[in-house]
Order: sequence, then structure tokens, then C-alpha cells
Amino acid sequence: MKKVIVTKKLPFDIEGELKNYDLVYNKSSEPLSEDELQKELTNADAIISMLSDKIDARLLENAKNLKVVANYAVGYNNIDVDYCSKKKIVVCNTPHVLTEATAELGFALMISAARRIVEADKFVRNGNFKGWEPTLFLGRGLQHKTLGIYGFGKIGQAFGNFARNFKMNIIYNSRSRKRHEENLINAQYVTFEELLEKSDFLVVTAPLNSSTKHRFTKNEFERMKNDATFINIGRGEIVKESDLVQALKDGQIAYAGLDVYEFEPSVSKKLLDMDNVILLPHIGSATVTARKEMAELCVQSVKEVLEKHNIPWNAVNKNFIVDK
Ligand code: DGY
Repeated sequence: MKKVIVTKKLPFDIEGELKNYDLVYNKSSEPLSEDELQKELTNADAIISMLSDKIDARLLENAKNLKVVANYAVGYNNIDVDYCSKKKIVVCNTPHVLTEATAELGFALMISAARRIVEADKFVRNGNFKGWEPTLFLGRGLQHKTLGIYGFGKIGQAFGNFARNFKMNIIYNSRSRKRHEENLINAQYVTFEELLEKSDFLVVTAPLNSSTKHRFTKNEFERMKNDATFINIGRGEIVKESDLVQALKDGQIAYAGLDVYEFEPSVSKKLLDMDNVILLPHIGSATVTARKEMAELCVQSVKEVLEKHNIPWNAVNKNFIVDK
């Protein structure tokens, strides 16, 4: 029987779907320790990993039978893909099925920041609402404001599509210009510097890699508008969190909405004390439908490799694996 490890409890009938496998299913809320995982991996054929699992060379050193890592996320910066490719281990992610869910969450952050929803909710709960006031919680509308999208993959494009219906001007910057996709939503490609200087709302949807790590630091926040809102639904390490804190404190930017953190799950203490920041616990893809479809896709990927010896369509290293 082939062995499959699933490192966290998923909202899906994993036991039913993988009944023909020797399944190691961590249903506890505690993650498996690195040692436990390393030990289980020594004779495993597949692993369904989470973005919080660091799948690196050290962990995989003795994973002699491992054929596929199916990551329960679209981002796969937690995996040493080069090492996997060398070892002919297929690495899969979960694209498409979480696009709308993640873009929606980012949009919710943007509207909540623009209209100060979380601050206003706290105000009411604290018993401070004494009557309607012309100046109570004045926010900013989205209409005719400039939305800057950093990273123009599927999630960035979906975000832009929502923004179009809110009559925002859409600009974007990404590794490559995407003419067809930009035309679909009437977005304009700009340089990174222009993105910083022109955006009223700047959303990060880019993946984390060596060129996006710490792309936003003190210098970048200094170039942004003082009344700009910064949203991050990509990865925390794209931003130097201490510089973001300082930029908010110094009024270099006005507001932030974050779903991801540089040292996740730890969040800078200073952010916790700020009213002009909305903090979410990395729930971008957390809808019932998206999380179920992500699990389905991971299971399909595992079966495709182990039963059919195929490289699935969603393998991120398909061009680097030969003779699978
Ligand atoms: C992903 O899938 O990479 C997202 O960060 C999950 O919310």
C-alpha cells in the first residue's frame, strides 16, 4: 500500500478519498514536528502539505520513495522546488480554485479600510454610539480612485475586475506585461515607481520569490501617497514589516489591511495597537467551496502521480522533471 501524509485536517473526506492508501492524517490542531514529519517521510510516497510546512532539502533528505508534494495553497514558496525537481519529486499547487475567494477577501480588506468598518464596529461595541453625526467615521470612497495592483496573476486580475465595477482607475505592475489581460479590465501597465506614486490603494497579490522578497521597505513607503492604503494578500515577506509599521506611524501612508505577515503566525506587536490597520489571520482562500476544491485538487494530484504515473496539469515543476 502506498503511503500518503496529510499534515493538517482538511474540510474534505480525506479518509474516504484516500482509503486505498496507508494514510497518516494529522487531525490535531498542532502541526507535526519537523522530526515527526521527517520520520514519516522516510517511507512516504506522497505528502499533502500546508503553506506553513517548510518542505526543504533537510526534511526530504531521507524521503527516498517520495513522488509528489501536493501543496494545499496556490503559493509554494514553502517548498524547495529545485531540490524536488532534482529528486524527480512532482510539486503541485492549487491554482484557479481559490482565485475569486482570495480576491474577494482582499477586496473586503480594501473596502473595510476605506470605510473604516472595523474601527466603527469597535466604536459601537464599546458603547460610544450616541447618535448620528455629520463627521462620524468619514472614510474614503473607491470611485475614481487609483487602484495599484502589484502582481498581475489570476488573483490580481480578479481583484482588478471587481475594482472595475467600482469605477476605479486600475494600474498594475508585475514581472511581465500582460496585454490581453489588461485589456479585459481596462488596466494600465506602469513601472514599479509609478505604481507607488500613483496608487490610492495598493494591493499586493504577487507570489514570494527572490525578486519580490522585501520589495516594500522604507524607501517604497516613502514614495507612496500619504493618504494611501496598503493591502497585502500575497505573502508577508514581500514587505519589511518593521518599515510598514514605521510608515504608518510617521503618516507616510494612511492605512493598511493585512492577511499575511513577515514572521507568520507572529504579528508585530506595534500593529496590534494601531487603529488604522486591519489584521486577518491568513484567510484569503477560506471559503467552504474554495477549501473543499483545494483539497479535491490535492487528492487528484496525488492519485494522478501515484496511480497513473502522470505529471498533473497543476505541477509547478513539470518542465524540470524528466523520465517520471
Ligand atoms: C495560498 O493559497 O497561497 C493562499 O495564501 C491561501 O490563503
